[in-house]
This record gives sequence, structure tokens and C-alpha cells, in this order.
Amino acid sequence: MNVSEQQVIKVGVIGCGMMGEVHARTLHDSVRDVAVTCVHDADVSRAGEVAASIGARVSTTPEELVGEVDAVVIASPDGAHATQAVLALAHGCFVMCEKPLATTAAEALAVVDAELAIGQRRLQVGLMREFDPGHAAIAAAVRSGELGDTVVTRSTHLNPRPWLYPMPAERAITQSMIHDIHSVRFLSGAEVLDVDVDTVVEPANGSVRYVSARLRMSDGSIGIIDLSVGTGYGYRVDAEVVGTIATMATTDPASTTLWREGRAEQVVPDNWPERFATTYRDELVAWIDSLRNGVSVGATAWDGYVANLVAEACVASAETRLRVEVSIPERPSFYDR
Ligand code: NAI
Repeated sequence: MNVSEQQVIKVGVIGCGMMGEVHARTLHDSVRDVAVTCVHDADVSRAGEVAASIGARVSTTPEELVGEVDAVVIASPDGAHATQAVLALAHGCFVMCEKPLATTAAEALAVVDAELAIGQRRLQVGLMREFDPGHAAIAAAVRSGELGDTVVTRSTHLNPRPWLYPMPAERAITQSMIHDIHSVRFLSGAEVLDVDVDTVVEPANGSVRYVSARLRMSDGSIGIIDLSVGTGYGYRVDAEVVGTIATMATTDPASTTLWREGRAEQVVPDNWPERFATTYRDELVAWIDSLRNGVSVGATAWDGYVANLVAEACVASAETRLRVEVSIPERPSFYDR
């Protein structure tokens, strides 16, 4: 039976760490006509905990899981995404794959090829800022022409604490800045031509403290990305498009201000689970709706692939301190949005 006609869509979750649990619980608690029937994790006891909390069963392998469900959420570590996505697609499943789609552009392209071979868009990438109301409103204003021509697109991504382990620039870019690469493409609607990246590193261990990227875009505008760790005060993601007519920016979603003793204080989210709590939910609601109505939403496998290509160029630029061109093949019309 076509998934769109099923009363209840069966979903499996691969990877039951922090994000896998968030997605499994959200689907279970907040999305209608969906059942998370099975979960898999390399750590069986972890899978058991999450399964027990939502009444699912544990699948011992990803192969077993994809044979039992209509749709799969992939929330395993980055390095497992592409293989598991290709596996799920080959079994006819719809897929919501956490970002990044892959750790290399070559692996991401294998996912694109697997989807092209099926001839239907079946995979959404968890580049979820598209579902953040502020980001969506800016993208809509750019598309409507309200801001005029785009001059600058800015994505600022400030993490609260230093990473717990030494973080090479390559990993910070592929794992974390990948969100901002997608934001600049999504907000501006333009493609990346080349990148110029600088980093500030921790002298003791080479761990990256700050990544600053300038992206030259196909419409003549520039993208500016700032990624840092260790703000010490909380988590911030801000986006802004400066146009020739108007400028539009996100405002902090924590909307209360406390005035006391001569000061006005705003609450800053501690980290991404707080900042994007409703966005993660909206992303999954939109994904399940898309399975029912056949109109795919959110970042495509192509977007995931291009984000990986741009990330690789950013890594090369950070290493060489040179501007690096991004060579993006022509997008198959299949991926027009
Ligand atoms: P985590 O480390 O908390 O959880 C990963 C889980 O996967 C662990 O339970 C581990 O046992 C399991 N695992 C390891 N290898 C596996 C394999 N081959 N197959 C199945 N399970 C395996 O990691 P976290 O923070 O939950 O991140 C998961 C994914 O979500 C990552 O790809 C990460 O980049 C992404 N992420 C996305 C965010 C977003 O804003 N969209 C935010 C945070 C993470």
C-alpha cells in the first residue's frame, strides 16, 4: 500500500543518542498517525532504554529495521549516515537523515545517485533551520523581492562551551558549520562560487575556537559565516539578509526581558535543544505531512551534497589560507524546489 494511504506510518529510528531520542520522542508524543515501531543503536542497551520509553521494539541491525518500517530517521554519528541512507532507500523507505548527509561529498553523491535511481524524492536532510520561523520569514522576503537585491547574507553560530574533545577545523566545519553553509544558500537562494576561510585555534591542542568564512555567491552577493565555541553565556544562532531596499534579521526567540536594578536582561538558550526545540518538532511534522501529500519539503539530498562540497572547499581554504573555488555540477531538475 502507498504510504500516503496508510492510516499509521511506521517509523524506525537508527541511532538513539541525544538527537535520536529527541526525534523518537517527538514522533511518539507530538506527531499524529505515526508509530515509532522499532529503534536501533550500536549500543543495544541504549536502544532498549529508548524503545522502552515509547513502546517500540529493538532491531538488532539497521538491515532488520529498514525491512520493518515505511520511513526511517537516521540519527547515528555522521560517518554512518550515507551508508544507512542508501540502505534505507534501497528498501523503499522514506528517510529523514540528520545533518551532515555524509562526511564527504563523494559519499553524499552516492545518496543522491541512489535517490535519482528510484526516481522519487524520498530523503530529507535534517538541516532544520528551514523550519525555524525567523529563517523561513527571511527566505520568503528574499524570494518576494521585498528586500531588493541581496547584498550580504549572514549566519552567526555561537556555541556556549568549548568542545569536550579537541576539535579540528575540518570537523567543526563539516559537523557544525554545515548548518550555516545551508542557511546562506537557503536564505539567499543563490549558489556558492568560492570560499575564503580563517580560523582561530587553541594554542595548546589545535582545537578550533572560531571559524570565519566568506562565501562569494552566484548572484554577486556575499555570505558571511561566524562559528565560534565557548561564548560562556549560552547558544546563539542569528541570521540576517542585507538587501538594497531593506534588511531583515532573526530576533532571539527567547522573547522575555527582565528589567531589574538598572538592567534589562534577556534569557539566552543554553544550547541547541532549547533554541530549536519547536523547530525539530516542526521539521518532523512537515516530513510526515510530506509523506502523506507527496510534496517533499526541507533540504534535499542535493542540498546535503552541495553543503558537503562547500564544506570541503572551506576545509581546504582553512588549511591553505587561500580562496578556494567550489565546483558544483549542474543540479538535476529532479531537485528543483
Ligand atoms: P550521540 O553521540 O548522542 O548519539 C549517537 C548514537 O548513535 C549513540 O547512541 C551511539 O551508540 C549510536 N551509534 C554509533 N554508531 C552507530 C551506528 N553505526 N549505527 C547506529 N547507531 C550508532 O550523537 P547526537 O548528538 O545524538 O548526534 C547524532 C546525529 O545528529 C549526528 O549526525 C549529529 O551531527 C546530528 N546532530 C544534529 C543536530 C541538529 O541541529 N540537526 C544537533 C546535534 C546533532
